[in-house]
Amino acid sequence: MQIATTRDVLRNAVAALRQDGVGQGRGRIALVPTMGALHEGHLTLVRRAREEADHVVASIFVNPKQFGPNEDLDAYPRQLAEDAALLEAEGCALLWAPTVSEMYPAGFVTNISVAGVSDGLCGAARPGHFDGVATVVCKLFNQVQPDVALFGEKDYQQLAVIRAMARDLDLALPCAESIIGVPTVREADGLAMSSRNRYLSAEQRAAAAALPRAMRTAIAAIEGGADVAGALAALQAEVIAAGFASVDYAELADSTSLAPLTVLGETPARLLIAARIGGTRLIDNMAVSA
Ligand code: PAF
Repeated sequence: MQIATTRDVLRNAVAALRQDGVGQGRGRIALVPTMGALHEGHLTLVRRAREEADHVVASIFVNPKQFGPNEDLDAYPRQLAEDAALLEAEGCALLWAPTVSEMYPAGFVTNISVAGVSDGLCGAARPGHFDGVATVVCKLFNQVQPDVALFGEKDYQQLAVIRAMARDLDLALPCAESIIGVPTVREADGLAMSSRNRYLSAEQRAAAAALPRAMRTAIAAIEGGADVAGALAALQAEVIAAGFASVDYAELADSTSLAPLTVLGETPARLLIAARIGGTRLIDNMAVSA
């Protein structure tokens, strides 16, 4: 696996992969953007990416523009050598691992803001976060120009923001339809895998399993016809009783626009939650059938 840390090296490496197509001559490329600290969820994305293309390019970049002033940018785990070994073992062809100054050279002033879908849920608690995500993902798309790009559904709002950005900016490589959402990978007790789970103490980690459990209870109630507001209130109470300090939000939303729903309609819906345990903010989401 080649590791590129500058745009020049990346450009040449991508061009070489393009020359190397299985069968049709033009190598198809799948991009898996990450911030590193890789776990089984990321490796699942790489495996799926290998099914979609001839070559997998992964990126590791802890993007300062998507962290707020009081967030965990400095503490965010960085383990490039370990991550590179994991990616290589999964058959990744190229790792793009730029420095902050390579990604944002002096004088960088552009910001991509995707209105509407960025505003509620995590966007309300983390102002500017999705601008940072959209801006860096747009750059990654332009730098690699992949045929497809893969993201975990764990960050469901992020996926919706990136799809809207690709659609609105008429991106070609990848186009909005080639942005693939991959179902969340969970631990045996149901907790969604996340690089931030490593911040949890043993006690917090055990308590955290209450989050997906309480979500499933709420979904069963909503699908069974219970009042949505009541089910969401019960969900929050159960999470707090399990040891979480606070719930940032627990919402039923339209699965595409993420507009809040007060009743379950005929279009697909999603239950989304963010809750804090100790100093760690965990997010999760699950489909709700009409
Ligand atoms: O999900 C992530 O790891 C990041 O938000 C992403 C998409 C790589 C952009 O920095």
